[in-house]
Amino acid sequence: MAFEMMPARCIQIDKWTLSDIDCLAIGAFSPLNGFLSEADYVSVVETMRLANGAVWPLPVTLAVDGRSSGDIGPGDRVLLRGEDGLNYAILHVESRYRPDKEREAQLVFRTTDMAHPGVKKLFEKGDLYLGGRIEVLRRPAPGQFAEYYLTPAQTKEIFQKNNWKTIVGFQTRNPVHRAHEYIQKAALEIVDGLFLNPLMGETKSDDVPAEVRMKSYLTLLANYYPAGRVLLAAFPAAMRYAGPREAVFHALVRKNYGCTHFIVGRDHAGVGNYYGTYDAQHIFSEFEPGELGISLLFFEHSFYCTACEGMATTKTCPHDTSRHVTLSGTKVREMLKNGMTPPPQFSRPEVAQVLIEGLRERELQG
Ligand code: ADX
Repeated sequence: MAFEMMPARCIQIDKWTLSDIDCLAIGAFSPLNGFLSEADYVSVVETMRLANGAVWPLPVTLAVDGRSSGDIGPGDRVLLRGEDGLNYAILHVESRYRPDKEREAQLVFRTTDMAHPGVKKLFEKGDLYLGGRIEVLRRPAPGQFAEYYLTPAQTKEIFQKNNWKTIVGFQTRNPVHRAHEYIQKAALEIVDGLFLNPLMGETKSDDVPAEVRMKSYLTLLANYYPAGRVLLAAFPAAMRYAGPREAVFHALVRKNYGCTHFIVGRDHAGVGNYYGTYDAQHIFSEFEPGELGISLLFFEHSFYCTACEGMATTKTCPHDTSRHVTLSGTKVREMLKNGMTPPPQFSRPEVAQVLIEGLRERELQG
């Protein structure tokens, strides 16, 4: 692009917004091609649909404050500049509006409690939203594990090359423990391929860091999964913790990557006790069959049962909970941080080892 064509105005964007821009750029957020304009925003918040009726459950917005955005308005072109000083995109401003954040929080997160990480984030952001199409100038450099940052066009090509007709997508922000492995493999029994698509964008600070997780996925796949049946790729987005609505969003995104099926287990994209265990499954009944363009595979809470001597769920195991090996995420993180290996019925020892070493290294780096 010729220098004189570059807009003179610029807005500083954070890592979260940059990850949204990347998802928009590669088509992971299709049909979106930019940040929501006011009409689409209101429609998404109120009805989980864009103004044209297409299903879209989460607002993807560009928040600014009055001071930094000056008199930027419809018709303007604005550079979106990262914290590293690089220009990542041009926003073609179509709309400038003041959102009703209380309403957004209540409908999207089902709570206005500031202790909810998604709600906190929402209220910390600027009070004005700019909507419009974006023109991408460059993708953020992924750093370590760059080869796993595949675009939907690339994953679709790989699925085709592998001759996979049915592909199940798996979203995760955690290391893959035995329960995850169980539902992935249960799904893999009925489809051709597994698309392991861990979220690599911003997560809350007590979640296991993305690079440590990535190492653990590679170890797990090398030891316990058939190489020709799994594709591992990074999902660059940030975590919203919007539970049910985010489950719908995660499903639509995996359809964009070429999946035909998507797994939703217990408390998908949940945090604390804000959502019921299966709310993220129930929400799908609000859409017409076929409307989402991807089939859902729902799984109950799964665990290792010492009486069954295997992985199971309440659907398949008759024994009481005293025979079930379950550990909370908080407990597992605590164990790993203290160098303790969770029981092999909970986590593969090779995975636990990678996580212990990774977390220790992070600690040493401060
Ligand atoms: S998420 O926030 O990315 O959804 P997580 O990485 O814990 O969190 O979960 C990934 C997927 O596995 C989600 O669909 C979730 O519902 C499912 N899941 C996690 N743990 C279990 C479990 N013990 N039993 C059944 N499903 C589970």
